[in-house]
Amino acid sequence: MQYEDLIIEIHDKVALIRLNRPKALNALNERMMNELGDALYKFDADANIGCIILTGSEKAFAAGADIAAMADYTYPDTYKDNYITRNWEHILRVRKPVIGAVAGYALGGGCELAMMCDFIIASDNAKFGQPEIKVGVTPGAGGTQRLPRTIGKAKAMDLLLTARTIDAAEAERIGLVSRVVPADKLMDEALSAAATIAAMPTSVAMLIKDAVNRAFETTLTEGVAYERRLFHAAFGTPAQKEGMHAFLEKRLPKFEGL
Ligand code: HXC
Repeated sequence: MQYEDLIIEIHDKVALIRLNRPKALNALNERMMNELGDALYKFDADANIGCIILTGSEKAFAAGADIAAMADYTYPDTYKDNYITRNWEHILRVRKPVIGAVAGYALGGGCELAMMCDFIIASDNAKFGQPEIKVGVTPGAGGTQRLPRTIGKAKAMDLLLTARTIDAAEAERIGLVSRVVPADKLMDEALSAAATIAAMPTSVAMLIKDAVNRAFETTLTEGVAYERRLFHAAFGTPAQKEGMHAFLEKRLPKFEGL
């Protein structure tokens, strides 16, 4: 598939997907989301790739769903077309780690898309918010659900009801992002984190991602039981044999292809 709204780079075992509609601050539209799904599935299935980065431009990760495209939608349009569920949630089905590298605006659907990544590294110029209320809609891609689970009810209600935008420092303080770095270091930091992950055994990274995501879907007892099963399953992977024997033999493990 030829991409119109994405730029793809491969850095060794890391796939970098860049949202690219600069004139509209990467407003997320139908074509871009279809392309994003295609790229994500392709890299998830590629044995040479161990980690994916999703990023935007220096000015905008994404300023939200494309308001121009949806302004005249009616309820039947959105319901019958299964608007957004249809192609916004591909990222949730990716089993390899996905890092969101956010510079500039991550608003509305842009913030929701960033939250669907496994973790977010932000540039110090990043701005996050859920301003949907100002254009007369609720969030539609998890903003009312993932945000309170991530930053707590008080902060989530504040952002959702006031449409307030927060800077990177506040986003880090409240746990929305894992790291903040100077703008000119964002891609170095994201690529370095992704390379570190890609050098780990991918099979085990996938088990860990699976287990952490389960934490948001189940009770503590069930979640720990699920973790225990995955822990037991890890003993069936070549990565466990290599990792533990390398430690005992005082050598570096060779996780290539594992
Ligand atoms: C369509 C958008 C857009 C959007 C920006 N643009 N955001 N187009 N949809 N979400 C376009 C502008 O129309 C403009 O196009 C160009 O990008 C530059 O934007 P400006 O507003 O001129 O830039 P600036 O003054 O720097 O302001 C930046 C901004 C502002 C603060 C990010 O653009 C803004 O408030 N955008 C909307 C943010 C928003 O409400 N997001 C939530 C959308 S609802 P032209 O052609 O005029 O140059 C949503 C629902 C999600 O996301 C539900 C799940 C899918």
